[in-house]
Amino acid sequence: MSDQVVQPDEVREAVLKRYSEIATNFDANEAAASCCSPAADDSSCCESSPEDAYFENIYQADTSSLPLEVTGLSLGCGDPITLANLQTGQTVLDLGSGGGIDCFLAADEVGETGYVIGVDMTDSMLEKANQNLAKVGKANVEFRKGQIEKLPVEDNQIDVIISNCVINLSTDKPAVFREAYRVLKPGGQLAVSDMVRLGDMTEEERADMISWSGCIAGAEEVDYYVTELQKAGFKNISICDRDNPDLELAGVIGLALSKSRVFSARIMARK
Ligand SMILES: C[S@@+](CC[C@H](N)C(=O)[O-])C[C@H]1O[C@@H](n2cnc3c(N)ncnc32)[C@H](O)[C@@H]1O
Repeated sequence: MSDQVVQPDEVREAVLKRYSEIATNFDANEAAASCCSPAADDSSCCESSPEDAYFENIYQADTSSLPLEVTGLSLGCGDPITLANLQTGQTVLDLGSGGGIDCFLAADEVGETGYVIGVDMTDSMLEKANQNLAKVGKANVEFRKGQIEKLPVEDNQIDVIISNCVINLSTDKPAVFREAYRVLKPGGQLAVSDMVRLGDMTEEERADMISWSGCIAGAEEVDYYVTELQKAGFKNISICDRDNPDLELAGVIGLALSKSRVFSARIMARK
């Protein structure tokens, strides 16, 4: 889908504002976050979601060892850790690492011989992530400031890229996929949870900045996602509904619906 109705700068500003405010206002003693609950205003992605509990209980991976400062600031829509099936010694990159939950879970999976890099563009979120890193004391995790469209990572360095509810926030997904491909080692794996869409979205829906920053308006059609991953060079592409993981959607013809359905997907691809 073209983004003619959307101004990239306006989206970036809305996303930065929302996640800055979430990080700044987050208090671990208050209710746990989701991508929608500590919203900067009273409109949120939950309102567009069919079930209020959609963003809750998303981890199969064991999060019990992590403090509330980390789990409470979990803003994802899925469980890329379980999807990625990480191995000891791997180097992992988390696109849009937020408060760091997936980086810390990944660090345990790859062990002391592995390494985890989280990239995020929001200063106050990076500050929270580094405070959390000091609290959990993991020597094999590092957070870098940067944009997922222009990664602060050298070519061919990464075994597995994970990401949790972030790529939908970008107005330039082809650049995100090109960058992901560039930094992965040959044979490297993309294992991502993200919001995607089947069916149409009106220009008005697409131009709603609260919905964009709430992970709904930027959700791309499954076909577009697959095509752009292919153009970037990825192979073995798989996209499944988080809640219906046995149904492969990548490459399936004729799934377009007249009414838009936005959902969390498990996305896998290989360089
Ligand atoms: C919905 S939160 C998800 C955070 C984390 N992945 C999690 O599961 O808790 C989105 C995060 O992505 C970051 N982000 C959004 N767009 C980005 C971009 N283009 N480049 C880098 N970071 C971005 C935001 O600052 C925010 O921390």
